[in-house]
Amino acid sequence: MSKEHPVFLFLASDFKGNELLEVCKELGCYNILITREKKKDLGWAHHALDEFHTMPSLIVQPDITNAVSYLARHHDLDRIIALDDYDIETAAELREHLRLPGMGSSASRFFRDKLAMRIQARAAGIPEPEFTPVFPHARLSDFLGRVPPPWVLKPRDEAGSQGIRKLQSAEEVWQALEQLGDQQSHFHLEQYVPGKIEIFHVDSIVWEGEILFSTVSVYGAPPMVVAQGGGVFTTRLVDRKSADAKALFKLNKKLLKTMGMTSGVNHAEFIKSVDTGQFYFLEVAARVGGAHIADMLEQGTGINYWKERGKIEVAQARGETYHLPEPRQDYAGLIICLSKYEHPDLSAYNAPEVVWRLDRPFHAGLIVRSSDAARVRTLLEGYQERFAHDFLTSVPLPEKGRV
Ligand SMILES: Nc1ncnc2c1ncn2[C@@H]1O[C@H](COP(=O)(O)OP(=O)(O)OP(=O)(O)O)[C@@H](O)[C@H]1O
Ligand SMILES: [Mg+2]
Repeated sequence: MSKEHPVFLFLASDFKGNELLEVCKELGCYNILITREKKKDLGWAHHALDEFHTMPSLIVQPDITNAVSYLARHHDLDRIIALDDYDIETAAELREHLRLPGMGSSASRFFRDKLAMRIQARAAGIPEPEFTPVFPHARLSDFLGRVPPPWVLKPRDEAGSQGIRKLQSAEEVWQALEQLGDQQSHFHLEQYVPGKIEIFHVDSIVWEGEILFSTVSVYGAPPMVVAQGGGVFTTRLVDRKSADAKALFKLNKKLLKTMGMTSGVNHAEFIKSVDTGQFYFLEVAARVGGAHIADMLEQGTGINYWKERGKIEVAQARGETYHLPEPRQDYAGLIICLSKYEHPDLSAYNAPEVVWRLDRPFHAGLIVRSSDAARVRTLLEGYQERFAHDFLTSVPLPEKGRV
């Protein structure tokens, strides 16, 4: 049954996704947004919203289920859309509760719970770091004796490298678990890939199980080093014809199939051991990449992943077929850091390839674009050092979770 004006409910624990709201509005949806009180005064696209609600937190139960069920008394909701990573499980639970289409709880775990994705990938023979749940303790003990350190103890459902600890000895692991107490089952342990590593991301647009479009990019430094060590964040699209890109297109295809992806956008990450050339699956999310990755991808390819995600939701709600616009074949790179100045002066960064500048207090950022992948790389590497010198300040970790 197709509706002219599908009713969409958006959950946004954090401020993001205006382009998605706008495209859904343009396509005739009735848009309801719930965000956190703390985020209410940020630059929401109110012109694209029919209703704007706030709650102290979107992840506290039964409050969120009660609030959304109350909305459902008066609205015939068609789809629930999570804008932030932390809203993915909540949206899945609410779909289950209200019997709405889209990913349910079990399906969404493969894109959120790092232990679930590890186990699923291993069953399909996808290479990944050696890992173990922290239960039963006998199994963990066996792992500690068998797999050489260092290891990383990771929260199964955090993002932004939060709460990840690199540990060197079995004593440290047992101590960390002791401190975690009842929280320990929400973590898993895995081997830190040894030697020099590079972290890649593959961002895909999927329609009914088929990847219509994907891009391969590489971070300048591993995100954990940047997040926890305080540094300049960069990422760039890599040459589509390179051996790395070809290998990752293939691996990503197998991964998304294994995880049961149907329709939407994905951000998958892979570790490459520079010494051996081997790729390892790191993690996968059913969402647009964070930290302005979507802006970089748009500059390089002309495809805005937020908008395409909106179009996919609308096509699903109406029972129509989604069509991908024709992509551009350029390359782009993104650089961002925390700035010691409220309004950093980026005017000295004036190469003709600079196509976008970040407008956010106490941040410095820009995007470069070129038809030549090597040119993007050279520019970013030069800018990385200059950003560190001109703007960089030490990094306070962002707030934990979204409570
Ligand atoms: N097994 C590993 N070997 C080497 N480095 C790792 C490993 N696991 C994680 N890391 C480092 O930690 C970072 C974050 O890991 P992961 O992507 O699993 O967590 P996250 O919290 O979802 O991070 P983000 O949201 O920043 O992508 C990686 O980008 C990498 O730098
Ligand atoms: Mg990650």
